[in-house]
Amino acid sequence: MPFELLKPQVETIISDSTKTTEERLLSICQLLETNINYYNWVGFYFANGDKKELHLGPYVGEPTDHTIIPFGKGICGQVAVSNENFVVPDVAAQDNYIACSITVKAEIVVPIFVNGKNIGQIDIDSNTPDPFTEKDERFLEFVCEKVAAII
Ligand code: SME
Repeated sequence: MPFELLKPQVETIISDSTKTTEERLLSICQLLETNINYYNWVGFYFANGDKKELHLGPYVGEPTDHTIIPFGKGICGQVAVSNENFVVPDVAAQDNYIACSITVKAEIVVPIFVNGKNIGQIDIDSNTPDPFTEKDERFLEFVCEKVAAII
């Protein structure tokens, strides 16, 4: 499904105040994983206070052992300190990468900002090599802006 059609669905999920934040974030993961065929694992990580660690939040896809990631480690940990999107067309070419599944070929991580502070991120793994474009970045920035409003 095109990103422009998914955007209003993201807004509908986010604005459903009958659901908890966790439920709404899980629904976002399900929406993205179901409708974008090269999104094979979709999840959120959040910074844990001042501990310089990311903790796994709602996700869909294979369970991962990496429920806690120190800042600086892996793609996710690097985004926690860089405050910038990280698009990885080929995970095998990355030195500082934490493998969750041997099927994963590519990854994109986009930070979530609340009042200018990087408080977490959306993380997407793909089993397709080099699938992400700037359109994915713009769409995921939109998702993160919406998510920021309910964190
Ligand atoms: N590959 C990530 C770890 C998280 S899993 O993709 C779910 C990384 O290198 O930070």
